[in-house]
Amino acid sequence: MKNRYGSAIFLLFSLLLLAGCGSKQEKAAGEAEEMDEIRPTFIIGMSQCNLGEPWRVQMNLDIKNEAEKHPEIRVTYKDAQNDSLKQRSQIEEYVNAHVDLIIVSPKEAAPLTPPVAAAYEKGIPVIILDRRVLGDRYTCFIGADNKKIGRAAGRWIASRLGGTGNVVELKGLMTSTPGQDRHSGFREGIEGSDIDIIFEADMKWLEPEARKEMESALARFKDIDLVYAHNDPGAHGAYLAARAADREKDILFVGIDALPHEGQVYVRQGVLQASFEYPTGGREAIQTALKILNGEEVPKEITLRSRVFTKENIDEGGKWLDEGGEEQ
Ligand code: FRU
Repeated sequence: MKNRYGSAIFLLFSLLLLAGCGSKQEKAAGEAEEMDEIRPTFIIGMSQCNLGEPWRVQMNLDIKNEAEKHPEIRVTYKDAQNDSLKQRSQIEEYVNAHVDLIIVSPKEAAPLTPPVAAAYEKGIPVIILDRRVLGDRYTCFIGADNKKIGRAAGRWIASRLGGTGNVVELKGLMTSTPGQDRHSGFREGIEGSDIDIIFEADMKWLEPEARKEMESALARFKDIDLVYAHNDPGAHGAYLAARAADREKDILFVGIDALPHEGQVYVRQGVLQASFEYPTGGREAIQTALKILNGEEVPKEITLRSRVFTKENIDEGGKWLDEGGEEQ
């Protein structure tokens, strides 16, 4: 009797257990199917040279906003904290992790050329954003034309100063290509004018460095008409130094980047006389990545357009630069 009851209870338990298992298995299968639907087909590794500057935070945000529209991709991010060696290992880590595509916004050209070339040669597509590497061992470069922006800034400044004046040039990191191009373009832009570059220094794209360099310029020169800085943080740092010396009203300030919440605000406030837009290319990087991952051909180089913002044109959205580097 006891035994009969015992086996009946055992049977009941086993059935219940099986039924439970069955529904668990079904549930698991359902979840897996659901996951399959949202599981990204492609993993993109993004190496950002630093996130200490607003422009770079914006670039990552532009990437994120565009990537979110495409469930078939997932982007993972690494911040190299302004260290080329660290950025080099990040690219190698992405290669070892077999990501489907790498986006790099490099700190410096020379040290980042070999790891980019190695990834590319292993068959991983690499998109270079903003600053360049050397040679052509990458899939696609996306960025605005820094030489053209520099030239446009030079022409704008020469005309604003009536062809003559004392100018301070605060340069971006000269081991990075935008620094080199914004410098050489600018020198072309002022050619033929009587503008004197009385002081030049590498402020490495950093506002505190620019402020320090500007303090030296102010100490050495009584007569400064304008500061041309290779980015808006640099121009703002120079402005702060001039304001501390009570000389900000005697000097004009021009920068590059024109972020809506940074350079464009400075222009509205009258802190900067002009800021030249430098688009981040984040959106275009994702759009290009999708084409590459879907096997489409993409151009080796995608050049983004730029605008100049001044107090006079900012309400109309700035003015586009034409091919020759002048306002349209
Ligand atoms: C940010 C930044 C920008 C500049 C760009 C050039 O790191 O310095 O201000 O336009 O990099 O690569």
